[in-house]
Amino acid sequence: MGRNFSSETERDKRFFITTPIFYVNAQPHLGHVYSAVLADASARFQQLQGVPQNQTLFSTGTDEHGQKIQQAAAANKSDVLGLCDNVSERFRSLFDSTNVGYSHYIRTTEERHKKTVQSVFKTLVDRGHIYRGDYSGWYCVSDEAFLTDSQLREVTLPSGEKKLVSAESGHPVEWNNEENYMFRLSEFREDLLVWLKDDKRVQPKRFHQQLLTWLEDELPDLSVSRPRSRISWGVPVPGDEQHTVYVWVDALINYLTVAGYPDLTVWPPDVQVLGKDILRFHGLYWPALLMGAGLEPPHSLLCHSHWTVEGEKMSKSLGNVVCPWESIQRYTSDGLRYLLLRGGTPHSDSNWSEKQAILTLNVELADTLGNLLNRCTAPSLNPSQLFPPMSPEYLQQLPDAGLRLVELLNDLPDVVAKHYTEFNFYHGLEEIMATVRQANVFIQDEKPWELKNQPDRTKLDSVLRLALEAVRVAGVMLQPVVPSLASQLLDTLGIQQQQHYRSWQALSSVFDNPRESGLLDSHPLGPRRTLFAKIKV
Ligand code: MSP
Repeated sequence: MGRNFSSETERDKRFFITTPIFYVNAQPHLGHVYSAVLADASARFQQLQGVPQNQTLFSTGTDEHGQKIQQAAAANKSDVLGLCDNVSERFRSLFDSTNVGYSHYIRTTEERHKKTVQSVFKTLVDRGHIYRGDYSGWYCVSDEAFLTDSQLREVTLPSGEKKLVSAESGHPVEWNNEENYMFRLSEFREDLLVWLKDDKRVQPKRFHQQLLTWLEDELPDLSVSRPRSRISWGVPVPGDEQHTVYVWVDALINYLTVAGYPDLTVWPPDVQVLGKDILRFHGLYWPALLMGAGLEPPHSLLCHSHWTVEGEKMSKSLGNVVCPWESIQRYTSDGLRYLLLRGGTPHSDSNWSEKQAILTLNVELADTLGNLLNRCTAPSLNPSQLFPPMSPEYLQQLPDAGLRLVELLNDLPDVVAKHYTEFNFYHGLEEIMATVRQANVFIQDEKPWELKNQPDRTKLDSVLRLALEAVRVAGVMLQPVVPSLASQLLDTLGIQQQQHYRSWQALSSVFDNPRESGLLDSHPLGPRRTLFAKIKV
């Protein structure tokens, strides 16, 4: 596979990002929203950087086939498709209410997808990558995965009985002995290593390293079908109705379906977002399947860690699964997005705590940012209700706190862009908040409430403008994270939708070129409103 993968310049006019597709055997929870919001924030950031919205392909959806869905429906005594319709709609409405602006919502039960699965499977057969073989080994229904010995763990039940479980999820495994179609995964080891040579291929680094470690082990061929007698809820293997395509192969192919396979106008995805539990599928099986089908593997993967709850793994049996609708009610949809991106660290697990959530929102959104906006737009300090002009003289003689603020504002666009590009939204938000805190220090030092009594308003206007400039910069940069809130903030500042002043480009050289950047101009403020109402404890 010694060819080059597509270059940055070919790709920079569009952006193709995916989330995993979600299983419909259970209700959506906080972790699912995190995967989706991470991808959404990244897509919004790319648009803010100039990728046109109609050139953004952002896909999400639901994974509806396989043994676990079949079993969930049987346990509920519901018909399988009815269950899928119902839960798929729950995911979709959750994403709609959290402002996840997907362009494509895929369900694996759609006809167009089944056709894609069969066509890709046939291509793999035609290219000689699939053979029939006897498979015997452990299968974990919850993971929907065949596990090797190193992926198993022995646990002792309260009764003293010993049992094997999946090391990754802790769920039980069952012994399978069946005739399956096998994919010659073992032949792709070298190609996978070439793909992984680019050290930006998989972020954060530890997950890239994890894949390389897995590749040091034996890479067994992959079973890509299940007997229909065992699994009927799935896509039949083309030309052999007695077998069903393995649900993970079916699911991964969703990314080709959304891209319009076989007429792929956009391929490969720029970034595929996924959780650490499904790294092996996306980082080994998926690129190998694509290479087998003669297609380019993804340009990059963003693998994120998990959310724990008050220090514990989130699980149905512990009863600590965080319901996203309750969180939206408590914190608002933007509040929830803020908490996920402010607290979520892709490289390691993050802890969800209600106490911390309230503290973060009250301190950062309500107090630090909201109060600053409120103060500087209050009619008592700002009777003419203007986004006021900066005076060049004041800019020449800034006090220390102002100089420090200008320095932070000058650096911020590049610093935050780097963090956002690397999916470290938490770092970007930290930097934004540090700048807004400095704006508060500056206001505290300059005491505009004393300046307002002077007949000449020049200094008062300049002080307010510098602080409001910090609010504008924060507002622009918060757009990918909290889209509605940021939009309200910019409305309050009188910065119209679609205006250049809302774009990332409008953040640089503001102080170096005050005239050209509009720093010396003023415009009327928009209607005042509370940015974020403090949550009562
Ligand atoms: N259906 C498969 C994915 C197929 S993609 C071709 C699947 N679905 S899932 O519903 O179980 O998980 C979807 C996503 O949610 C995964 O990225 C997973 O890592 C993520 N999360 C599940 N629990 C999570 C947390 N506790 N925290 C963060 N994300 C978590 O796997």
